[in-house]
Amino acid sequence: MKNTPLAIDVIETKTSNIDSVDFDNLVFGNVFADHMMECDYHDGQWQNPTIKPYGPIQLDPSAKVFHYGQAIFEGMKAFKDDDDQVWLFRPVANIERFNKSSQRLAIPEFPQDVFLEGLEALLNLDRDWIKKGFGNSLYIRPFVIATEKGVSASPSKSYKFMIICSPAKSYYSGEVRVFFADKFSRAADGGVGYAKAAGNYGAQFYPTNLAKEEGYQQIVWTDANSHEYLEEAGTMNIFFRVGDKLITAPTSDRILDGVTRKSVLTLAEELGIEAEVRRIKVSEIVEAAEKGELKEIFGSGTAATINPVRGFGNKGKKYELPQLEDSYASLLKQKLMEIQYNKAEDKFGWRY
Ligand code: COI
Repeated sequence: MKNTPLAIDVIETKTSNIDSVDFDNLVFGNVFADHMMECDYHDGQWQNPTIKPYGPIQLDPSAKVFHYGQAIFEGMKAFKDDDDQVWLFRPVANIERFNKSSQRLAIPEFPQDVFLEGLEALLNLDRDWIKKGFGNSLYIRPFVIATEKGVSASPSKSYKFMIICSPAKSYYSGEVRVFFADKFSRAADGGVGYAKAAGNYGAQFYPTNLAKEEGYQQIVWTDANSHEYLEEAGTMNIFFRVGDKLITAPTSDRILDGVTRKSVLTLAEELGIEAEVRRIKVSEIVEAAEKGELKEIFGSGTAATINPVRGFGNKGKKYELPQLEDSYASLLKQKLMEIQYNKAEDKFGWRY
């Protein structure tokens, strides 16, 4: 056992699993790196963090996370450049959102310096799990769960913070088609839509399964009041290109303030692509598709990066999008990855 200056206990694994992993054929989120970070909260404070071999944890069956879903998470990625240096992309933005999500779920905030120093120590131990080359990354999943015993419906007095890491290629394995929600909702005003609350995602599984039966991989959620405005896709923020203009919905208390989303907007501006952040009517997109003016739809997110959408469905009708030579999605993804993999100047100070 070693101690870093932050008194993070580090227990290294004696048996790495890395040789059993087929890094060319990864299914997103199925394989985990050798180590994990763990830090408990009790008696009103976060305790000493530990980095230890990845493995199961033990919880009381009455732990509040199981009964009231008091849990939040984040998604981040580490990239390796040609000189074997490891980079994070805008990690402070994720840590700030992590704590914003925590606040909404009545979870105590996690100290930013401990988060970053622990993550650095974890990545240093598991750096062989980060492969070089565009498209390869280590997906980082920090989360907090409520661990207090007892089924009274009140905030837990104890929590577990963890970071686990999974080598990743692309999130989607094939083409993505989306369905515009007209019945179910993801988030409502005053709710938890802006937070990465575990339940936000679990609640999407049933409607998404119904959409999958119709040939769609994702739902684009519409506003809960009227279902007239397009908001966010299941695992991504969503962009529409009508003519040469890019449009995305504004963030709100219903829509996640995506780190990739805001990076796309900055890169679009830099590339001279006109981008509008405003409410988007379903009817506007359907009309644009019918007139041949809807050129692209793509999603943005840490896991998905920038993912083109091949078609969409609305009220029983299916629309296909053209294959473009001058796709904004490809251009923006290339620019984003050049920064993430240290192949371009980091004008915006995004690499860490
Ligand atoms: C991410 O992009 O990191 C996310 O958190 C989406 C996730 C549900 C896969």
